[in-house]
Amino acid sequence: MNNNNPTTTLPASQNASQLIWNTNTTSKVMENKTIVYKSEIMGNLMKMVDRVAPSHANILVLGESGTGKELIARSIHDRSNRRNKPFVAINCGALRETLLESELFGHEKGSFTGAYLRKIGLAEAANGGTLFLDEIGELDPAIQAKLLRFLQEGEIFRVGGKEPIKVDIRLICATNRELDQEVTRGNFREDLFYRINTIVVSAPPLRRRKEDIPSLVNYFLTSSQHSYLNRGRTVSDEAMQALMSYDWPGNIRELQNTCERLQILSDGHSIMLNDVPENIRTPEQEDGMMDYTPSITLYDLEKNYILKALAHFGGNKTQAANKLGITIKTLYNKLHEYGEFEKFAVHTKPAK
Ligand SMILES: Nc1ncnc2c1ncn2[C@@H]1O[C@H](COP(=O)(O)OP(=O)(O)OP(=O)(O)O)[C@@H](O)[C@H]1O
Ligand SMILES: [Mg+2]
Repeated sequence: MNNNNPTTTLPASQNASQLIWNTNTTSKVMENKTIVYKSEIMGNLMKMVDRVAPSHANILVLGESGTGKELIARSIHDRSNRRNKPFVAINCGALRETLLESELFGHEKGSFTGAYLRKIGLAEAANGGTLFLDEIGELDPAIQAKLLRFLQEGEIFRVGGKEPIKVDIRLICATNRELDQEVTRGNFREDLFYRINTIVVSAPPLRRRKEDIPSLVNYFLTSSQHSYLNRGRTVSDEAMQALMSYDWPGNIRELQNTCERLQILSDGHSIMLNDVPENIRTPEQEDGMMDYTPSITLYDLEKNYILKALAHFGGNKTQAANKLGITIKTLYNKLHEYGEFEKFAVHTKPAK
């Protein structure tokens, strides 16, 4: 672990900013950067990380939700010669177009209603360091064009600004979407795609590296903020067997949340098979279809289902959207529509 790293903590001036800092870049989130693994597949990935880190190449990290993409991005930064400069992360799916542009590139005083002061954008704040654009697949076409321009010219314009500003950043992007398909569908610019994917690093899903599960469980149980409880510190063989048989659709994030829950709820020093939640011991095989109920409208059904999905994933919108088969933008729009947006603006991160 490297504590010399400045993790950018710009003041959160508005709700949207809080969303970014709280989900991606608070120093608390970034304190814990250990990548735990045993599997060969992760060993190879880490060799790749070592090889690409010192280069200036832009990197695209691919992988399902919860596979550790942000951790990998951070690890690349830490192994690069930019390690003593800022690592700034922004979630492209969490903000509407205009807000995202001013978060990313900043704005000049008076450039729009409410722009009372000049604001430095995250790209400028990351100068000399690394800018991590999470959920790049959600980036609006207008901002895609601006990002492309920046990658070509090395300059940005603040919103309402006339002067180009030189910034030196290394870009790491991440997505859980098939970005090449988004290009084919016309949702993502091909020229930008080729600029950001000089090197592609793929984080494998946990079900393809189950050998990592015991080490990860051990790590989460001993490093969690609940370890002071002095219970649930070890796992019985049967319980571990159950954890290893499960496919972990939410990947490491789901495993981490489960470990936290197991630790809090377990009775003794060791976690037993009985402590393991039913859905993990015996994953549902049924088709999940419900009978028609005349008193329930489609609107209520959908709302209920979406809110349940969010609760299931501990408020993690990326994961919920992914499993619901909708984009994160659609999920945000739905939450606004239901008047539930504020409630889910910040999701509870598992213990570090
Ligand atoms: N190999 C690992 N060792 C230890 N912790 C890990 C590992 N991989 C992931 N984690 C932890 O799992 C959680 C999810 O990781 P991360 O946020 O990097 O995933 P992600 O792919 O960016 O997820 P999302 O798609 O939901 O944004 C984090 O708390 C992270 O610290
Ligand atoms: Mg992420």
